Amino acid sequence: MPTSDASARWTPDGMELGTAAAAARGVSRRLPTSGRPGSIIPVPADPPTHRPSESVPERARAYFEAFAADYDAAATEAGWEPNELLAGALADVGPVRTALDLACGTGSTLAVVRRAFPDAGLTGVDLAGGMLERARATLPDARHVHQDIADFAAAGARAGERFDLVTCIGGLEFTEDLPGVLEDVRRLVRPGGHLVITYEPVVLGWEPQALRAETNLGSNGLGLTTIRWEPGEVTAGFAGWREVSNRLVVAYQRDGLPTIYGWLQYQRPA
Ligand SMILES: C[S@@+](CC[C@H](N)C(=O)[O-])C[C@H]1O[C@@H](n2cnc3c(N)ncnc32)[C@H](O)[C@@H]1O
Repeated sequence: MPTSDASARWTPDGMELGTAAAAARGVSRRLPTSGRPGSIIPVPADPPTHRPSESVPERARAYFEAFAADYDAAATEAGWEPNELLAGALADVGPVRTALDLACGTGSTLAVVRRAFPDAGLTGVDLAGGMLERARATLPDARHVHQDIADFAAAGARAGERFDLVTCIGGLEFTEDLPGVLEDVRRLVRPGGHLVITYEPVVLGWEPQALRAETNLGSNGLGLTTIRWEPGEVTAGFAGWREVSNRLVVAYQRDGLPTIYGWLQYQRPA
């Protein structure tokens, strides 16, 4: 694993970190754990390309709109792994007649779901129109919804929409209140159905992911804000659900370093 910290080591079961080295760099302090937006540490300061009033999803929308044409090539270049992991995870899931993919992007995740369940009705949701257009071109028979995850989940939950499978791969780090959004997302899963999601965890002592919130400038000059959570904050709402998988995975490489995702798969009780 390429890493700037010789004593940090990735294993399939988690990160083994050189905490002494990290402490020397001042990054191993324990971060707040209350998990609500008020506890987010806003560092670094917003880049000048953004108005302070921009919300995290608004910023993500602008970023992915500008990135849409290059996204698939960049994902390949960065070694984007989650959709391959999803293909493996779906082997034990079924039957699936209806599937929802939140933050569907250009449709790569929906394509994996389509291969696993060729007859399922598919719905994809994304707030960047350029990304969604590409998903529409790839999967023209799917339903494509141009909306924020949080808004779609809240409205769908109120309306009693239910899906056999709900996925969200690489999107939840761009929502401001992940535990709150998941309350609605859980209601979209039919009893007995499955939920597969990723989130970006706070990894204590691992400098690239030690902060609660971070804004990085992309190569297009736009900033993208990522909100991170501790695993327990994310899993707390799943009491009573069957935990199929709860682990850390390498999602892709950023600046030569692995980006770690939390990978969760749950089955709602029948
Ligand atoms: C890293 S891409 C992942 C796309 C796809 N799941 C994949 O694996 O290729 C993240 C996507 O999430 C979308 N997104 C980010 N924040 C969102 C939000 N709050 N609501 C809806 N979509 C969002 C972006 O527009 C982008 O298309």
